[in-house]
Amino acid sequence: MALDEAALDMLGLAPLWARRGGGTASRAEPPAPTEHEADALLEAFGEVAVQPSQPTPTVERADVAALDWEALEARVAGCEQCRLCEKRTRTVFGVGDREADWMLIGEAPGENEDKQGEPFVGQAGKLLDSMLRALTLARGENVYIANVVKCRPPGNRNPEPDEVARCEPYLQRQVALLKPKLIVALGRVAAQNLLKTEASISSLRGRVHRYEGVPVVVTYHPAYLLRSLPDKAKAWADLCLADDTYRQALSERAGE
Ligand code: URA
Repeated sequence: MALDEAALDMLGLAPLWARRGGGTASRAEPPAPTEHEADALLEAFGEVAVQPSQPTPTVERADVAALDWEALEARVAGCEQCRLCEKRTRTVFGVGDREADWMLIGEAPGENEDKQGEPFVGQAGKLLDSMLRALTLARGENVYIANVVKCRPPGNRNPEPDEVARCEPYLQRQVALLKPKLIVALGRVAAQNLLKTEASISSLRGRVHRYEGVPVVVTYHPAYLLRSLPDKAKAWADLCLADDTYRQALSERAGE
């Protein structure tokens, strides 16, 4: 179909079209428009040029290094670094005493946590509270609880490595602000991601590791213990190791 050259001129598009004799423009074999011309063409015909999508810049450790607790919590609440933000109800930042010596780190929020915005509020949380009581500790009193990822993975699947990686600067900042004397990693997923290993939980238990310079003791996840009562005795042994490690850290600090 021939197009009227004057109309094209009016639209500022004449240069886009090949002129074929007689002053009329023809659609035959148009030269490829430049990117700028293509945008103008779309605009002229009422179409919106599709903007190339801007990838969300990844949060780096340095980006959150200066944030205090409130600013960090607000940053997490607005985080859109990974796909978990699409389905979450609430972010689950962490809970407890921000001066605590003990930091417990789980995997990721489940359904109840996602609704309430607090870690370990379901049945597993009740067992965790009992484990703390056995150590004469309590949630919120010298104990801070957080997760490796702050948003619920759909269907409670394990968090993917890229989700863990994008969330890690937040956890690192929490550790830096809290300066715990001891971290207890709750379950395989937390332990493997904190310690950057694929080793089994049974091989990680029973010795002291380090995360961000802080001693780490690994134990079973309370949700697993709800289903596997015999391993509760092993979990108790882990908590005793944690307590010994804590006391040792205290006495080392006192001797400094
Ligand atoms: N399991 C976790 O690892 N964390 C929670 O907060 C709840 C269940």
